[in-house]
Amino acid sequence: MTALTDVDFRSAYDGQRVCVTGGAGFIGSHLCHGLVRHGARVRVIDDLSQGLRENLRPLGDQVELVEASILDRKAMAAAADGAEVIFHLAAVASVPRSVAEPELYLRVNVDGTVSVLEAARTCGAKRVVFSSSSSVYGDQPDLPKVESMTLDPCSPYAASKSAGEQFVRAYARCYSFSAVSLRYFNIFGPRQRPDSPYAAVLPLFAEALVRGRRVTVYGDGAQTRDFTHVDNAVHANLLAGATPRVLEGEAVNIATGRAMSVLDLLRAVAAVIGVEPAYETGPPRPGDVLHSLAGLDRARELLGYEPVMDVQRGLEETVRYYVEHLPDVAESVGGTVD
Ligand SMILES: NC(=O)c1ccc[n+]([C@@H]2O[C@H](COP(=O)([O-])OP(=O)(O)OC[C@H]3O[C@@H](n4cnc5c(N)ncnc54)[C@H](O)[C@@H]3O)[C@@H](O)[C@H]2O)c1
Repeated sequence: MTALTDVDFRSAYDGQRVCVTGGAGFIGSHLCHGLVRHGARVRVIDDLSQGLRENLRPLGDQVELVEASILDRKAMAAAADGAEVIFHLAAVASVPRSVAEPELYLRVNVDGTVSVLEAARTCGAKRVVFSSSSSVYGDQPDLPKVESMTLDPCSPYAASKSAGEQFVRAYARCYSFSAVSLRYFNIFGPRQRPDSPYAAVLPLFAEALVRGRRVTVYGDGAQTRDFTHVDNAVHANLLAGATPRVLEGEAVNIATGRAMSVLDLLRAVAAVIGVEPAYETGPPRPGDVLHSLAGLDRARELLGYEPVMDVQRGLEETVRYYVEHLPDVAESVGGTVD
């Protein structure tokens, strides 16, 4: 399929009302910036359990923030009211936390997704774009992961995303709206939080190295991931929300299509900061998969998706963001970690 361009995005989104669940979070706030750039009128519903109001502050009154849970059916329906497209990103989003608190994942990620779909159905939205995850593939040895593979969730988080996808597909079949699930592979970029016990690997590495601390690598560091800059996730959402094609609840990989080991990521982050990549190893974490790499054929065919930001350029931009935004970094940057 021919890719949509910025001009097509402008004509698709200009003046259009859209709802973004989880829009104050990392990926959601980048999506809001992209939607506003193309003229959309954006309403966000976010309970601010992880998201931050300040992520949306630069957008001023171009984004309306409803501070509520997607589990609150009334608030969810009010947030979806009048929206033609609902981008559903709100979720609890960590694999290790899901192992510790599985029922939370059932509530927020499964019941929450049904709540969003119900709001879409009753408010007459034309399309739902669901943020799913590569974790649904589990630890199958075959690479790249392609959408025709049987799903094999290894964690409550992966199970909750897999269940969310099934509901998305069922709603697309039973009710007359278009829907798609985007399976993101390890998204990174500015604004991803380093300050949580369940933070993703890149912000953890960047924060530790910027502060001159030793990094902990779980497992031997040879595990690989398809690290994907957030601009690619935003681009995929914009494509999925704008394509004239009817989407029938398909699931689509969204990634860069290149594997990188965790140790290579550490070395790359250290190189941008200008420090030695000092680390110690810890035991592998339950629920983590060994290798992950996306096949992108379906994304190309269904959405006209191609990555818009490569890993190296994305890493440089992101690490520079952490260097600028983490306090008290000046004295540690440029030194050697012990
Ligand atoms: N970051 C990744 O690498 C990655 C990979 C695969 C999938 N995803 C998915 O992408 C989506 C966005 O992830 P992210 O990395 O931006 O995480 P995030 O935690 O920054 O964003 C999630 C947002 O949802 C909000 N939220 C949580 N529970 C809510 C509730 N009950 N009601 C309303 N809002 C609620 C949080 O406050 C937060 O702003 C999630 O669905 C996640 O599962 C992310």
